[in-house]
Amino acid sequence: MKNLIDIKRLTKEEIDTIITRAAEFKTASQDPARGEINYTGGISDFARLGERLYRANSCANKTACLMFFENSTRTKCSFLIAADKLGMNVIDFNAQTSSLSKGETLKDTLDNLYYMGVNTIVLRHGEDDITDKISKEVTLPLAFINAGDGQNAHPTQALLDYMTLLEKLGTVERKKIVIVGDVSHSRVAKSNLALLNKMGADVHFFAPEYFTPKNKGEYAAIWETDYDTAISDADVIMLLRIQTERLNGEESEMAKHYSEKYCLTSERLAKYAPDAILMHPGPVNRGVEMSSELLDSPKGRTILEQVRNGVYVRMAVLEGVKG
Ligand code: NCD
Repeated sequence: MKNLIDIKRLTKEEIDTIITRAAEFKTASQDPARGEINYTGGISDFARLGERLYRANSCANKTACLMFFENSTRTKCSFLIAADKLGMNVIDFNAQTSSLSKGETLKDTLDNLYYMGVNTIVLRHGEDDITDKISKEVTLPLAFINAGDGQNAHPTQALLDYMTLLEKLGTVERKKIVIVGDVSHSRVAKSNLALLNKMGADVHFFAPEYFTPKNKGEYAAIWETDYDTAISDADVIMLLRIQTERLNGEESEMAKHYSEKYCLTSERLAKYAPDAILMHPGPVNRGVEMSSELLDSPKGRTILEQVRNGVYVRMAVLEGVKG
């Protein structure tokens, strides 16, 4: 894999390879003494497995540069931790204090970073498609990983969500997965849809009218018109954060009333989809997409499991890209 720009460009086999590798990293990273995994071998077997996995990788000579032009906690920190676990060198690039603020172009900045020894760029940016565009402009052999570009794509989020679902369900084939909330501004929704469709899930969307994309017909999913019907008997409910930073004035006004109708509570979940797995890419707006009480309940725990899997998926991706 040269770059990771968009889930749409990955084959099912490539997705499986990433998830298998991530699962290996997870097994090797976790300490059975803390009861984090159900590992049946002894401690020494576990240590040997870890050693084999870490020795096998060729990341020690790699340098990754994390370029985050939008705020992030989960994605950025998990990339940092992943790179660190792989023994890579990592640069946490600060756009504000860099020469970009003197007018240097992103392409020139990247060329210079390459000449310093950087070989992997992890890019988060507010502009749609920028990772694709810049990866074509730069002719030097840098590997690009899209860590979220505007409202377009967030491939590593979809991969970590898929890993979490496989752990819980074994397969997503023919599972009813309902994606709910601010669909129109969500890169997470688009990348998850692409991946879940590839893997044979039944993807449903529900969004209030003001968060329904104008081109909804281009989304290969079932569009629901009622929240409670949408979530009924779902295997998975994936809530999306309201993207307050991307809303226009009218959308912001409408969004103020979102929670009155669409906040998921424990009671609502118990009534319509008691067995559903609850997911959210984070950060959760407590009391908006879901109640605080639901988030803190055992049902909300999956959201932290998603975050943990993010580390291992990003290890697999950092290791896998070759510029
Ligand atoms: C998502 C993002 O930034 O696209 N968050 C994340 O990466 N965990 C979703 C969001 O911010 O709503």
